[in-house]
Order: sequence, then structure tokens, then C-alpha cells
Amino acid sequence: MRRNKKTKIIIIGTGIGNDLKNLTLESYDKIMKAKNVYCRIDYEPIIQKLKEKGKKVISLTPFYEKFSSFNKTYENMARFLIKEAKGKGEILYLVPGHPFVCEYPTELIIKRAEQSEIEVQILPNLSFLDSLFVDIRFEPGLGMQFIAASEFFKKKIYESISPDLISVIACLSDKLQPGRKMTVYDKFIEFLSNKFSKEQKISIVYQDPYSWEQKVIRTKIGEIQKYKQVLTTYRATCVIFPRKRR
Ligand SMILES: C[S@@+](CC[C@H](N)C(=O)[O-])C[C@H]1O[C@@H](n2cnc3c(N)ncnc32)[C@H](O)[C@@H]1O
Repeated sequence: MRRNKKTKIIIIGTGIGNDLKNLTLESYDKIMKAKNVYCRIDYEPIIQKLKEKGKKVISLTPFYEKFSSFNKTYENMARFLIKEAKGKGEILYLVPGHPFVCEYPTELIIKRAEQSEIEVQILPNLSFLDSLFVDIRFEPGLGMQFIAASEFFKKKIYESISPDLISVIACLSDKLQPGRKMTVYDKFIEFLSNKFSKEQKISIVYQDPYSWEQKVIRTKIGEIQKYKQVLTTYRATCVIFPRKRR
């Protein structure tokens, strides 16, 4: 299959935190030299810092208002970027964290780009997962299951999560999606009460929206609903360690 080398989408993760120095030099250089730069989320501090440096960044955030479900939003973002790449040659698409960690449009873009013979380059930076290992100091190689809570709607996945491994649960949205009776957050609460005791310890790691620092709340599953606002409106991820580790 012949690839059109001139048409290219470069997907760059902008890492975590609010400092441009957290970007790899390669990513920073690419962004500063690029003519056509788009971003999924425009309220990211990194995007604001790039704008302060005079970089024009076109935001795809209005897509969230325009479409009724996340699926439609991401499908349309991918379609739009493919169209832009075809028209402009090379474009950059910036996403928070790492481009493959809970970034559903990335896969859609890759699939659609292959169909249109468009080249895709991925430049990663740190994900919140990298930060998590440091924030609560653990070694994922000891046995970790990482999941976006929306996956709990899949029966097989729901059933296969083991309380004997470290569970890391992200993306706790409280926005009801068309065709569903429960929000992802409510499904997460149901999951916790089915799988663990009320006394089971759980940590909430979140990014403080004012200082942009990582913070940790240590609580019990029986108390977790007190933190609904943190879990659903901040960038927050839950970690549950098994009771006994061998
Ligand atoms: C759509 S994902 C984007 C993740 C991003 N691609 C990354 O690699 O960091 C957003 C979810 O990731 C988690 N998350 C993102 N940043 C976080 C942070 N700083 N601390 C804790 N969890 C975070 C939250 O669960 C949030 O709902």
C-alpha cells in the first residue's frame, strides 16, 4: 500500500503538570515549529503556556458541547482531524498526559488515518499513571489492573477484576450517556460495593485544580461517596491495594 508521505498527523501527549519543562525537547521543538496545531482540551495549563509563547492552538473542546455522547464526540474529532490533515498536509494534535492512556480518539485517528493512507507519528510524554506510582509510591509489576470505569459496563470485564491485585480505576464521569441507565460513577460505586468490604482502604489521587499539584486522600470504601465531587469533577484516580500481599 502506498502512503502519502506529505500527509501526516503527529499526536503529542503534553504530559502532566503545568510546566513546559515537563515536555520532552523533541515534543516542544515540534510544537513550536508546527504551523497547524490542535488540542483536545484547551483549559490545560500547558496549552495556556504555549499560547503565552505566541503559539496558535485550535481547540476541539467545543466538540463536547456539540455532540450528545462521548462516542460521537470522539468519532467527530477523529473525522475532523483527518479532514484537516488532508487539507493542510501535516498537523499536530495535542492531548493531555500520554497519547495512549485513556485517550480514545487516538485509536480512532490511527484507524481512520490508515484507511486514508495518512502517516501517524506518536510522541509520548508522562501520563498521570507515571505520576501515580510516585504519588502513592508503588511498583505496578507487583500486579496491577488498570481500568477506565466505563469498562465496568462490560459484564466479562466487571467479573474478571480481582480484589487480589492492585486496582487502579480512572475516568469517573458523572455524565449520563445516551442509552444507559447509570452514570459511570454510579457503576463504579456499585462495583466497589459488590467486590469489596466497606472497611477496605482506598486512595484517591487527584490533581488540585488550583495549584495543579498531585494530592492524595486516604479513606475507606464505605466513605467514598463523601468525595463524589473530587472524583467526578477533578482529575482523580482511585487505587485499592489488596488486603494481604504475599
Ligand atoms: C481522559 S483521561 C486522560 C489521561 C491522559 N491521557 C494521561 O495520560 O494522563 C482523564 C482521566 O485520567 C485520570 N487523570 C488524569 N490526570 C490525572 C491526575 N493528574 N491525577 C489523577 N488522575 C488523573 C482521571 O481519572 C481522569 O478522569
